[in-house]
Amino acid sequence: MKGIILAGGLGTRLRPLTLVTNKHLLPIYDRPMIYYPIECLVNAGIREILIVTGGEHAGDFLKLLRNGKHLGLRDLHYTYQEGEGGIADALKLGEDFADGDKVCVVLGDNIIQRNIRKAVGDFFTQPTGAKILLKQVDDPQRFGVARIENGRIVQILEKPEDPPSNYAVTGFYMYDNDVFDIARTLEPSDRGELEITDVNNEYLRRGDLTYSVLDGWWTDAGTFESLYRAACLVAEGGANGGNQENHAELLSGTGVSPVHAPA
Ligand code: G1P
Repeated sequence: MKGIILAGGLGTRLRPLTLVTNKHLLPIYDRPMIYYPIECLVNAGIREILIVTGGEHAGDFLKLLRNGKHLGLRDLHYTYQEGEGGIADALKLGEDFADGDKVCVVLGDNIIQRNIRKAVGDFFTQPTGAKILLKQVDDPQRFGVARIENGRIVQILEKPEDPPSNYAVTGFYMYDNDVFDIARTLEPSDRGELEITDVNNEYLRRGDLTYSVLDGWWTDAGTFESLYRAACLVAEGGANGGNQENHAELLSGTGVSPVHAPA
């Protein structure tokens, strides 16, 4: 399985912080935001990653991440999203990179306490379809939300005013190669974007969407409140199943990323 990290967008909700840099290069406590999704994928055994970025500061990713070897990656690829077409539009750029494989897609501003290793392993043995990760939250209207009946997802709604549950769809998605065909069929939503929620609903329609619920805390970091919360959570106990000492190699930028999480 290959990894795709979506790190584009204009970060308008974080202006003026994002006027002179990309959101995913902002610090979360002691590291740039983009380090966290990379480490999350490495911990799940995924060492071939494509970064999809965009905007005016795309070159800074190369300066920071170089070939990714110092972060435990075998291969690091980059591509550039023109304009603001949304998550599913950015994903389309990963088709050649995926080259027929399954992909694990991570939104670059999503940070977790533990790891996604079990879910990735489960999806590896899932013959076809997609798998998403849910998390119960207090403010589901900010996210994609799953309507669940008898333990099964029956619908996913994007930022509903009246959420049918408090299970948010997190920014960790696993797809078979059909995702690229599905992305091609999408129409822009009211906010003018190709929505990842529409991709997930198509897998649901096919009866081929599984889910699991994330352990530990999960946060995005795309607003001032969530950026601050993410920094506090990381400072208190580390992310990706680690703690601050575990990250010495990443901080020095010279070692190989540790795999902390228990099997
Ligand atoms: C996006 C997705 C949403 C998901 C969220 C997770 O929202 O559209 O379904 O719950 O990421 O972070 P956005 O970042 O576009 O607000």
